[in-house]
Amino acid sequence: MSITGEVKRVTTHTLQSMKVNGEKISMLTAYDFSMARIFDDSGIDVLLVGDSASNVMAGHETTLPITLDQMIYHAQSVIRACQRCLVIVDLPFGSYQGNSKEALNSAIRIMKEAGAHGIKLEGGEEVCDSIKRIVGAGVPVMGHLGLTPQSIYQFGTYAVRAKEEEEAEILMRNARLLQDAGCFSIVLEKIPASLGKEVAAMLKIPVIGIGAGGGVDGQVLVMHDMLGITRNFSPRFLRRYLNLYNEISDATKNYIKDVKDRDFPNEKEQY
Ligand code: KIV
Repeated sequence: MSITGEVKRVTTHTLQSMKVNGEKISMLTAYDFSMARIFDDSGIDVLLVGDSASNVMAGHETTLPITLDQMIYHAQSVIRACQRCLVIVDLPFGSYQGNSKEALNSAIRIMKEAGAHGIKLEGGEEVCDSIKRIVGAGVPVMGHLGLTPQSIYQFGTYAVRAKEEEEAEILMRNARLLQDAGCFSIVLEKIPASLGKEVAAMLKIPVIGIGAGGGVDGQVLVMHDMLGITRNFSPRFLRRYLNLYNEISDATKNYIKDVKDRDFPNEKEQY
């Protein structure tokens, strides 16, 4: 809070200072107004409108089907809820891989139509021209290396990436290239903790991990996993802070019973 009583916004510069000062960065995904409001009020540093919306909100098996219009819809809802945190929005599959002009146009749509504070995209060397162009237009870019779900059909599995030295070296090289291209931060997904620590020590920009160990500069989880709404997803890196699936299911069963038993509404719950 500032002396004028205004909430002080987290910016990309705040995250940079946090890295320098050794303060860990907290990040969660969000896709709607109500949850984003709770996370922002609770003091989260960064909210990511992830293309994981394709899985957890729309029920698709992969992140590939979600469209740019759908990402903008989710992003608008999240942005409306947030006063303090930095809100980053994923560029969805197919909205940036064509060429750097397409990538810039997609980033501009997200910034203009949703009011986002920056975008995230997946990949290394192959997306550096696009990153330079987007950053050149004044848009903060977060990179994403390691397990990049938009390439799942190329990987063939969601297994841990970069366990072998050759892939680890490529990842280190790509991390440096993303920093040089102008990324303000990168996400590392599902890689050995030792490699995550090495990348974070090598880079000046903050490195946020999901399944990348404790040696990185911050952590991100998908909200449905962290809150225990998803049930059949239990990777080793996941810590569940609630078991909302059971809590919501029990509440629903109680409601159904009360309706059937004519217990709800009672005298006081009607006009
Ligand atoms: O879309 C998403 O949720 C993400 C996180 C896993 C980092 O990219």
